[in-house]
Amino acid sequence: MSSRFRALRGFQDILPPESTLWLQLLQEARRLFSLYGFKEILTPLLEPTELFQRSIGESTDIVQKEMYTFTDKAHRSVTLRPEGTAGLVRAYVQHHLWRLPAPQKFFYWGPMFRYERPQKGRLRQFHQLGLEAFGAQEPKMDAELMQALMQYLQGLGLGDLELQLNSIGCPHCRPRYREALKEHFSTVLSELCPDCQRRYELNPLRILDCKVQRCQELRHNAPLSLQHLCSACQEHFQEVKETLRALGVAFAVNPHIVRGLDYYNRTAFEVLSPHLGAQNAVAAGGRYDYLVEDFGGPPTAAIGFAIGLERLAALLSHRAKEASPVVFIASLGREAALEALRLAISLRQQGLYTEQGYDQGSLRSQLRRANRLKARYAIIIGEEELKEGAFQVKDLKEGTSVRLPASAIREFIKRGQG
Ligand code: HAM
Repeated sequence: MSSRFRALRGFQDILPPESTLWLQLLQEARRLFSLYGFKEILTPLLEPTELFQRSIGESTDIVQKEMYTFTDKAHRSVTLRPEGTAGLVRAYVQHHLWRLPAPQKFFYWGPMFRYERPQKGRLRQFHQLGLEAFGAQEPKMDAELMQALMQYLQGLGLGDLELQLNSIGCPHCRPRYREALKEHFSTVLSELCPDCQRRYELNPLRILDCKVQRCQELRHNAPLSLQHLCSACQEHFQEVKETLRALGVAFAVNPHIVRGLDYYNRTAFEVLSPHLGAQNAVAAGGRYDYLVEDFGGPPTAAIGFAIGLERLAALLSHRAKEASPVVFIASLGREAALEALRLAISLRQQGLYTEQGYDQGSLRSQLRRANRLKARYAIIIGEEELKEGAFQVKDLKEGTSVRLPASAIREFIKRGQG
């Protein structure tokens, strides 16, 4: 039989047991990041197109090629969010959250949409889990945010990730760097891909992010942003590095990180895994000290990151495992089935994961299911047991069996569990 419908290319279902792993990843993120004061925030999946054009930038691949943009019934151009930061900044400004004591720190997660060419680790609908902190310009915040990120990832058992760091300057020093880049590429302009020739005019930094092989070769000796930082940016970068060292957070400076979004300034970072192939960034982020103001708010420094949940889950897929029931109740006969239902409800009220046989097939087929589910205990209720008011409780792990009155079952199982 073949399914009449399939999910769209680049869109995927998250099935159990992977969905259980996702839940664990989210629970751990909520637990850990709430200790740093990050509060959960939910923003819409659909936003005005201009929001992304303005923040991510007209010259980026995301805005030029990858957005799910359409016209709604009121003839407005709307876009499925390709990332979370822009919507959060909009919400921060729209609800005057800047009036609250700074810094304001937010946690979010949810689906994002980019019309990219699907491949391993790259989807058209993917999920991000992110943190954003508004109102702290000190390098201490950069360092603390990266420390929180690494603690989360390492706490999940991922020991071989690399935090890479760069500074991409600010509106002060960027113009000089832009000019230096333009000068570098001016002699090879005709050899750049058509996209990069456009980028050369619009935003030459984007050339450094191009995936075309020839462009990558041509940027070999291109000037680096680190060589063109103003003294304030240099100081900031220095302090971020020193604080990270003082906190024991390992990192490597990678002067080639430019990031695929335009809103960044100063700190830009990525966390890379050696196990993910070409799409090796598990998380990425940076400062965006000018975006709040650009959206109509007061000048507000900001920094954040997002983790790609599919990539994180791929690194931990060996851990994806369904929970097994503590108890499986097999019953024979109508009366016994009712008793089984009652007992199951009461055991669940005690917090015990309880399954039961729904088919009134043979005891053997019900017990086969109990074994397949890897239940720890099986309780058998038949007519005789009902009459006697005592049920057989099999310990499927130990292979032992006892007869107990219903009232004693709970205690017995709890003891066995403890
Ligand atoms: P980004 O680098 O575009 O940054 O995405 C962050 C992470 O999302 C990536 O490192 C990757 O793990 C995951 N990701 C991105 N695109 C895909 C895709 N097509 N399929 C699967 N995973 C993907 C941002 O989005 C910024 N908003 C991060 C940020 C937050 N900066 C400041 N605050």
